[in-house]
Amino acid sequence: MAQEVRGVIAPGRNEPVRVETIVVPDPGPGEAVVRVQACGVCHTDLHYKQGGINDEFPFLLGHEAAGVVESVGDGVTDVAPGDFVILNWRAVCGKCRACLRGRPWYCFDTHNARQRMTLTDGTELSPALGIGAFAEKTLVAAGQCTKVDPAVSPAVAGLLGCGVMAGIGAAINTGGVGRGDSVAVIGCGGVGDAAIAGAYLAGAAKIIAVDIDDRKLDTARTMGATHTVNSGGTDPVEAIRELTGGFGADVVIEAVGRPETYKQAFYARDLAGTVVLVGVPTPEMKLELPLLDVFGRGGALKSSWYGDCLPSRDFPMLVDLHLQGRLPLDKFVSETIQLDEVEKAFERMHHGDVLRSVVVL
Ligand code: APR
Ligand code: ZN
Ligand code: ZN
Repeated sequence: MAQEVRGVIAPGRNEPVRVETIVVPDPGPGEAVVRVQACGVCHTDLHYKQGGINDEFPFLLGHEAAGVVESVGDGVTDVAPGDFVILNWRAVCGKCRACLRGRPWYCFDTHNARQRMTLTDGTELSPALGIGAFAEKTLVAAGQCTKVDPAVSPAVAGLLGCGVMAGIGAAINTGGVGRGDSVAVIGCGGVGDAAIAGAYLAGAAKIIAVDIDDRKLDTARTMGATHTVNSGGTDPVEAIRELTGGFGADVVIEAVGRPETYKQAFYARDLAGTVVLVGVPTPEMKLELPLLDVFGRGGALKSSWYGDCLPSRDFPMLVDLHLQGRLPLDKFVSETIQLDEVEKAFERMHHGDVLRSVVVL
């Protein structure tokens, strides 16, 4: 039986979001209906609302979510009703070339749920990143659900579904940060702070946080940063070199998504060091670098896609580490809000007042 629940809709380009009644059908083969308990507000939701991703309005927003599986369709064996799960926006196929080569985060045959949720008048909704979880219930592919220890708070768990996983994964999966490494993180919003927490977890000896906002640097210290640099007044490349005996950091993570900060990251790494781009640039952005510097400095220039995560491996592990007191994921939850407060949360995010606002249901 299809069900009517409340969800947050972006009706058209730059129009305010609003709560509407939506229709969630029964799960088809390979699908699950999840009772959402928490969903974080991410920049990507704002990009959808602004029409920056595509024009398939109306969107059902929300994609950093955790909840309880309510029902499953035919053929679903990995999750069952009652399971507490974190949702991911890439249900990988397990069969394509990327999956078979052990890089499922590049899977090019992801199968999220078909888009069958509607408004009460039958208008089809486009769920953000194939999830749509600013809603009491949502329909997803079973492969988008990863079971984790239900002892974790849903608000904390949901954040692993996107931004926090992107940051932690940039450090531990893409950057390969190891014990004793020096790490610099440029941009200390939710993603950068998560990269700092990831570097701390991996045993980095020195973690240098760089931002233009002193408030962000204070928070970065609570995540494990050992040094901070306000790059508004200081050249961050020089500061990072000074803090690393004149060499540069072993791993530099760029979590802003701009050419100038990527350039800083490039020059702030040690010879043969690794630069990881996790900030998302816009299509117009270009970077010019002397090719001789690329050649001469060696090392690796990488981008991190969804933290190069494998949800079935990383979500339960990170939840367990959090429950053991080794990963302070609760610090990413700046405030909990209701469904009808998402528009206000976009404002606070835009002004840099929060790491994450989380809708709890
Ligand atoms: N130098 C250093 N820090 C900067 C600069 C700069 N030139 N410009 C902005 N920042 C800082 C901001 O002060 C803020 O603390 O970068 C941080 C960006 O954080 P958020 O806006 O909270 O964004 P976040 O959610 O962390 O995402 C960062 O990663 O996944 C991507 O799409 C996401 O591109 C975005 C990036
Ligand atoms: Zn695949
Ligand atoms: Zn997101």
